[in-house]
Amino acid sequence: MKLRRAVITAAGLGTRFLPASKAVPKEMFPVYDKPAIQYVVEEAVAAGIREICIVISADKGAIKQHFGRDRAMELVLAGKGKRQQAGLIRKLAGMARISYVLQREQKGLGHAVLCAERFAGKEAFALLLADDLMYGAANVLTQLDRARRKPDGMALAVEKVSRQMIPSYGIVKIKRGGRGAYDIEDLVEKPRLKDAPSDLGIVGRYILTGEIFKALKRTRPGALGEIQITDALRGYLKDGGNIGAGVFGGTRYDAGDKLGLIKASLEMALRDKMAKGEMRTYLKGLMKKR
Ligand code: G1P
Repeated sequence: MKLRRAVITAAGLGTRFLPASKAVPKEMFPVYDKPAIQYVVEEAVAAGIREICIVISADKGAIKQHFGRDRAMELVLAGKGKRQQAGLIRKLAGMARISYVLQREQKGLGHAVLCAERFAGKEAFALLLADDLMYGAANVLTQLDRARRKPDGMALAVEKVSRQMIPSYGIVKIKRGGRGAYDIEDLVEKPRLKDAPSDLGIVGRYILTGEIFKALKRTRPGALGEIQITDALRGYLKDGGNIGAGVFGGTRYDAGDKLGLIKASLEMALRDKMAKGEMRTYLKGLMKKR
């Protein structure tokens, strides 16, 4: 069945970005010409998803404002002859049906997903973590939907991560299934290097079903004292569930990290025909000076 719904988690505190994230949600930081979270919403829309629930914390009203319709602004822009810009912000608000759910306490990613239970219901849905920006020829969610090995199964995207980054990720052990697909055999959240089952890290894209909520309700706090989605998936697996893996082959940026955000912005500028030439000249000059 076609994926209809997506949950995007954007309730994190943004402590790595303080003081910049004190008044502005980190998901609203621009990546070249758009706030980071807009890329994630556009990715879901590109996969044919029209119903999106963003899990936010109380101080993230700017996200709502960004995706909401602003007729007054459209009129002002149109009045000044800026029709293109007026069209741009109208299109932004009409991209998808976006609803919001509040995560009142920051108890972890698993807990944030649980907050979206009513929205998601029983059918399969996509989960996108707003910090992970994915750039590639193929849409990750469409690929992942194919990586689901059973109609009621789940799937997640994985990527090789460097040794030093292993303790920051959910790490999976996979085995080859039929038709060139992979099954997850085990997964562990933020393992110590010596306990890691492989160097394949979970990147922020999942296809989940209603079963995840049952598993989440049974999940106790794990790594960082938080309720982890990885632990809930492990519980689901141990109970006989099936999780497929899709190996992500594109470029991923960690927009939750200062350098990741700069890298994403630079590459987006270099991909823009209008900005490319100037950026290249600037970067070359900069490297000579350093
Ligand atoms: C979360 C997940 C982790 C995953 C990572 C991908 O961790 O818990 O399993 O590997 O996202 O970005 P976080 O980055 O929120 O610590």
